[in-house]
Amino acid sequence: MSDKERAAIVTGAAGGIGRALVKGLLGAGIRVAAVDVVNYDDCARKCAQIQAECGPIDILVNNAGITRDMTFKKMTKAAWDEVMRTNLDSCFNMTKQVMDGMVERGWGRVINVSSVNGQKGAFGQTNYSAAKAGIHGFTKALALEVARKNVTVNTISPGYIGTKMVTAIPKEILDSKILPQIPVGRLGKPEEVAGLIIYLCSEEAAFVTGANISINGGQHMY
Ligand code: CAA
Repeated sequence: MSDKERAAIVTGAAGGIGRALVKGLLGAGIRVAAVDVVNYDDCARKCAQIQAECGPIDILVNNAGITRDMTFKKMTKAAWDEVMRTNLDSCFNMTKQVMDGMVERGWGRVINVSSVNGQKGAFGQTNYSAAKAGIHGFTKALALEVARKNVTVNTISPGYIGTKMVTAIPKEILDSKILPQIPVGRLGKPEEVAGLIIYLCSEEAAFVTGANISINGGQHMY
């Protein structure tokens, strides 16, 4: 089967990376549906409807993510729960709907969008860093379970990308604390992240699984 016949679901499609990704996937001839992710039953209903109307889903990009930044001293239970639900529970909620089909058909791609801040931690982000780090544990365990069925599961960890999520950071913090940590000297572009995800969706990426690929302008290397 060629890339042209594939169908994908992208979560968080309204965000900066999500929009660039949908455009890139469509450009690669892949059909795309967008889904919201917080409630398990809603995910099940929506994915069943998409698969009934559009056929099997070959590619899932778990891209939905929010921030509720505050220092741990000020961190509320609501801010913790919201970030866990949207950023981490969503990966379970969505992957559960499509994985059995990928395994049965013997082809699938799951790409989980984490963050540099899941790798290195970030001031004001105990909730976000925990959820984003959890994503890669999920990736590695699931990658092991489905590798022999030609289903790959990977994490990508973008750094600071020029989206609303990042431009919402107070300017003085962005300029004084964050930009100086990026050796490339600028924010990343959503299209650069989309390009990496589209590669991971391709036939050529069949040997990449359980990986966590950084795309962060050199901000964090390990
Ligand atoms: N590193 C070190 N120190 C920092 C810091 C940082 N990244 N951010 C803030 N501080 C310091 C401040 O300079 C300040 O120091 P002083 O008291 O000495 O002046 C102190 O922490 C308190 O900072 P604020 O006055 O800003 O405190 P606040 O309670 O009003 O806000 C905050 C705290 C919400 C964490 C705010 O500082 C903030 O928004 N920081 C940015 C957090 C961040 O980087 N979020 C990433 C969002 S983008 C993203 O998450 C995408 C991705 O995946 C990469």
